Amino acid sequence: MKSECFSILLSIYFTFGRAEYLDMSYDVGEESMFWPVGNGFTRADVTRDYQPAGYWYHNEMLSFPEHISTHMDAPSHFAENGWTVDQIPLEHLMGPAVKIDISDKVASDQKAILTTDDLSDWWRKYGDFPNGTIVFVYTGWGSRYGNQTAYFGSNSTNSSTFRFPAISVGAAQILTQYERTTGYQILGVGMDTPSLDESDSQTFKVHQELFAANIYGLENVANLEKLPVTGATVTIMPIKIKDGSGGPVRIIAKLPEVNAASDKSLTRSSLSLLLTLLLFIYY
Ligand SMILES: *[C@@H]1O[C@H](CO)[C@@H](O)[C@H](O)[C@H]1NC(C)=O
Ligand SMILES: *[C@@H]1O[C@H](CO)[C@@H](O)[C@H](O)[C@H]1NC(C)=O
Ligand SMILES: *[C@@H]1O[C@H](CO)[C@@H](O)[C@H](O)[C@H]1NC(C)=O
Ligand SMILES: *[C@@H]1O[C@H](CO)[C@@H](O)[C@H](O)[C@H]1NC(C)=O
Repeated sequence: MKSECFSILLSIYFTFGRAEYLDMSYDVGEESMFWPVGNGFTRADVTRDYQPAGYWYHNEMLSFPEHISTHMDAPSHFAENGWTVDQIPLEHLMGPAVKIDISDKVASDQKAILTTDDLSDWWRKYGDFPNGTIVFVYTGWGSRYGNQTAYFGSNSTNSSTFRFPAISVGAAQILTQYERTTGYQILGVGMDTPSLDESDSQTFKVHQELFAANIYGLENVANLEKLPVTGATVTIMPIKIKDGSGGPVRIIAKLPEVNAASDKSLTRSSLSLLLTLLLFIYY
């Protein structure tokens, strides 16, 4: 009886104590979205079988563009002297996440853009970005991911026909100036769309602006609707391609505790106390 009680309490304790994580990456495979020029993802030489010697062996040769699925645009993608993906310092790959939600605008205008006013509104409401932040712009466009026509706004490869939300050049300029004006660094900017720049952009000014300041981009980010406005921390793990202009990236958010933190830690500390008592009686 005592041991049953103990194991029940133990499971409750670990349920309450477990951190919650959010996977913000789509998988990389044949169905992955990529800028529709050149080749997508292919597998060749797949070995997935028992070998003559009797052991199981699985190994694949892959081919895919750097900028496929959820991926990082390294600064060198649009800035001659910017970091390549393997050069980005580790301390730039972890940090607090903030989310700016423009999905309301996007519902009535598929080419809506993050404006300088959207930034000012956010700061008025939530205060400064924390130092070393990764900024995510949530448009709701992710629900279209997987359908080329819906996601790019066109089934053509002519980018003048694309239609999706983006970041304005003015907002990008404010973001690159943010460190100079506040002392707080912005490490990267991510979106749930195919590109940070406006869909029919021919000059990619937002990319140019951010990357010249060594602020990297994250595109086709998944599950942004589940990221809280503030309070999460993210770990950004791009594939470490030597001299690469970017690459598929695993983004993991550690979510803040959902309920009032004090209530939860109280629950946890009283459970700890109970456990200690129980252990004391038991042994
Ligand atoms: C993809 O999106 C297009 C445009 O919104 C739509 O017409 C089409 O039915 C969708 N395809 C699938 C398989 O859902
Ligand atoms: C793209 O859509 C147009 C209009 O819906 C259609 O006529 C055309 O065949 C489609 N092209 C491709 C490559 O699917
Ligand atoms: C691309 O689309 C634009 C807008 O529809 C059109 O003006 C242009 O001629 C197209 N370019 C090519 C190469 O087809
Ligand atoms: C922000 O973080 C950077 C890097 O750690 C540091 O150099 C800088 O002093 C910090 N800024 C403030 C205002 O604390």
